[in-house]
Amino acid sequence: MCPPDYFGIEYEINPWMNVRVGSDAERSHRQWTALYQTLQQLGVAVDLIEPVPGLPDLVFTANAGLIYRNLFISSNFRFGVRQGEASRFEAWAQRRGLEVIHLPAGSYFEGAGDALFCGETLFAGYRFRSDVRSHQWVGERLGVEVLPMELVDPRFYHLDTCFCPLAPDWALYYPGAFDEYGRSVLRDRIPNLIEVAAEEAISFSCNAVVVGTTVILNQGAPKLAETLEQAGFAVRPLEFSEFIKSGGSAKCLTLRIDGEEAASWKREAPAESHPGT
Ligand code: ARG
Repeated sequence: MCPPDYFGIEYEINPWMNVRVGSDAERSHRQWTALYQTLQQLGVAVDLIEPVPGLPDLVFTANAGLIYRNLFISSNFRFGVRQGEASRFEAWAQRRGLEVIHLPAGSYFEGAGDALFCGETLFAGYRFRSDVRSHQWVGERLGVEVLPMELVDPRFYHLDTCFCPLAPDWALYYPGAFDEYGRSVLRDRIPNLIEVAAEEAISFSCNAVVVGTTVILNQGAPKLAETLEQAGFAVRPLEFSEFIKSGGSAKCLTLRIDGEEAASWKREAPAESHPGT
């Protein structure tokens, strides 16, 4: 995570952002800290990267890149205003001992904001930020199956605003953000797929952080909370109103280092070496 010291609405690169509305520094700090403390209470060790003046969206660490085992595929941000973040995230990845990988120049890719593992498969959203060729390249580079899906509603411009894997065979999604092909791919491939209603999706309830079976999301999605609880998940609603003004919520403020709960590779034992055999 990255503390929101320099967070603000300084430009408009998605339909949520309005520089004339702006955000409240004190409130964003409080909301960010509540997420940070909730994660710590759940036993999560959180690595922090240093906030940088002039990079207000650095708080949205989900967009730093995609982590797979010891590899860090660094993002190629679509908009110039965010491109300065890449070197900061890469420096962090290097310090962590991850191998930093770059996409071919001229392709766009916004990391875990647009590419999420559910089981063995990487589900990937394209059009507004990442492009489809980047996802194909990532799939080949990692040797994993990628299912690119077009995002059709500019309010849901990153995949993590409308889709959230919960476990290898569980996910939630907002159907209106996908075309018929995307919806059918999700329905065919994910056995337990929870539909989020339009009025709850619009408050970023799909943008959830999953820790074990606990789901942290923006408050104000009672129907989804009930469905999740019936399915055996514990729901932790928090307030993210300041970050929603920038088009982000809980999940965008985090980047999972050790593999999302839903990613099969998280569960696989690391390759063992057998000296002498
Ligand atoms: N203001 C940021 C942007 O438009 C918000 C990023 C939200 N991140 C996410 N993973 N959905 O780029």
